[in-house]
Amino acid sequence: MIEPTKLHRATELALARLLPRIEQAYAKAMGPSDWKTFRRRLDEHFPTLFEQLLILYGDQYDFYYQLEQVLALAATTWGERPKELKKLDESREANPQWFQSEKMLGGVCYVDLFAGDLRRLRKQIPYFQELGLTYLHLMPLFKAPLGDNDGGYAVSDYREVEARLGTMDDLRTLAAELRKAGISLVLDFIFNHTSDEHRWAIAARSGDQDTQDYYFLYPDRTMPDAYERTLREIFPDKHPGAFTYRTEIDRWVWTTFNVFQWDLNYRNPAVFREMAGEMLYLANAGAEVLRLDALAFTWKEMGTVCESLPKAHTLVQAFNALLRIAAPSLLFKSEAIVHPDEVAKYISSSECQLSYNPLLMALLWNSLATREVRLLRQSLSRRFQIAPDTAWVNYVRCHDDIGWTFDDTDAQALGINGYDHRRFLNAFYTGRFPGSFARGLPFQENPRTGDARISGMLASLAGLESALRSGNTAEIELAVRRILLVHAIILSIGGVPLLYLGDEIGAMNDYGYVEDPAKAVDSRWVHRPRTDWAKREVRHDAATIEGRIYQGLQHLIAVRKATPAFGGNKTEVINVGNDHVFAYARISTGGQRVLVLANFSEGTQAIAANELRLYGLNYHFADLVTQRDLVLGSEPLVLEPYQVLWLQAG
Ligand code: GLC
Ligand code: GLC
Repeated sequence: MIEPTKLHRATELALARLLPRIEQAYAKAMGPSDWKTFRRRLDEHFPTLFEQLLILYGDQYDFYYQLEQVLALAATTWGERPKELKKLDESREANPQWFQSEKMLGGVCYVDLFAGDLRRLRKQIPYFQELGLTYLHLMPLFKAPLGDNDGGYAVSDYREVEARLGTMDDLRTLAAELRKAGISLVLDFIFNHTSDEHRWAIAARSGDQDTQDYYFLYPDRTMPDAYERTLREIFPDKHPGAFTYRTEIDRWVWTTFNVFQWDLNYRNPAVFREMAGEMLYLANAGAEVLRLDALAFTWKEMGTVCESLPKAHTLVQAFNALLRIAAPSLLFKSEAIVHPDEVAKYISSSECQLSYNPLLMALLWNSLATREVRLLRQSLSRRFQIAPDTAWVNYVRCHDDIGWTFDDTDAQALGINGYDHRRFLNAFYTGRFPGSFARGLPFQENPRTGDARISGMLASLAGLESALRSGNTAEIELAVRRILLVHAIILSIGGVPLLYLGDEIGAMNDYGYVEDPAKAVDSRWVHRPRTDWAKREVRHDAATIEGRIYQGLQHLIAVRKATPAFGGNKTEVINVGNDHVFAYARISTGGQRVLVLANFSEGTQAIAANELRLYGLNYHFADLVTQRDLVLGSEPLVLEPYQVLWLQAG
């Protein structure tokens, strides 16, 4: 750490030295007004950028040269930034909390599985609007190796769309049309690794020293063995350990995920610069949010787990500062699926403004299995609150497995043993536990540690698949209610709700993936089905199950959007004296209060009237879900099985 006054001085000197050169090279082409804007943002954010880069690369002999390259990149990007996006930058700067609105609703899908390709996806914009989406995350769509490419998470070229999905122009057009429809495009920034077919990896494989330094390559097992002593295995049944031997160069290469995903070496400033270029390219193509894939893994130090190290944060902060200068409307969404304490550290306006909320996701499933909410309440009452200028992205399912993330001490305080409980949850969600309604598959079961995660579509995990198979109408009813229950929570708890498209019509597991050799080894494909158009067609027919789920969801979405208290991220998790009922209060900036009660059991549950009075519900109030007025006397309030109430004082 450098002493603050020295740092301040060094920052000023650096800017004084570099600015004239940048001005000379770029100001004229930009024009006076754009240059002025650029200067203003530079004045504001250069100190942060400088400080973070100094921490990462200050020991490099050519540090100032690297710094100048980075500034040149920022100037070029801003100079070339399309007019529409410059306008967006301005409007976001004027309203930086735009993503806190109760009108926000996210959706995520695969281009090919949902619609075929980018052009056909464009035709689905009316569908996205009908659902009420304001944010659409398209799963990885850039060039990737043929066959297994980890669902696109092995990128061979960050500037070329996978040919079968379309072209860069298709992507730009789609981004612009989505924006016109009020929908922000979200793309992945897969910056921890490239595929082994990326041009850098190809050069490295042919012996090129410069590009070999973009990755971690070792001549023998000495270093890999030393690192592996403290590493966690991510995909143990696909490849044990974190290194892969490549015969053509007789080297071991660091591959945290799959053998064809080569981890990038951010100790090398050239890697930072190159990847910054790829990031800014996505910015100017029209992405409004970048999902920072696997951001916990980007910095490695011997003797550590190589996850969430301080410099992984420094790196993201440096990228973020660069965006504030060159493409300020763009936001980062953190994909840190790690311990809750670590997840929280990525969330701030100087790092990731948005973050997945894996804790809420995992604990919703936990509560559905156990029918009680103690762990959910205990964990969230301490861990839900984040800074007012940031937001959770709350989700129930996504393209990945469910890992049973929660803090073991939180669990212990309730007499729950973390290890045993995770085993129970795995047994429950694979349907092995007697009486379980869930039909999921194990993912990466590790016989050595007893660990496993869970794959499966929401509807199958919530009991719809087993209920339909047995034809039991009461069970079908309960499954539909569970699906609506968990959505009612992500729609009201504070942050951006994110729908995994397919879930809105109750799409179920697709076991066909085992026929495809590129997918068979990865059970996550069971929850990545192709759109079933026939099912989507009947979504307005309340006599069908798809229709019941879709219409139920549509109704909840409409109410959310009309309820200011559901905006913002202030939430008070409360204990209403019933361990089957999850409860929290939401308060809008205008003072509107809504109390949410959610029954996680298939029995009716009562809440004593005086518990509700404590939270401002007096004699008269209304349930926003059923739009019924309620009167609270001395009798307890009764919730139906899996019912959710959104109660507003009258
Ligand atoms: C992220 C993705 C996951 C992928 C991994 C490696 O965690 O969500 O699907 O396997 O990164 O890129
Ligand atoms: C690991 C990673 C997470 C990723 C997942 C994919 O849990 O921590 O980032 O989503 O693997 O299965």
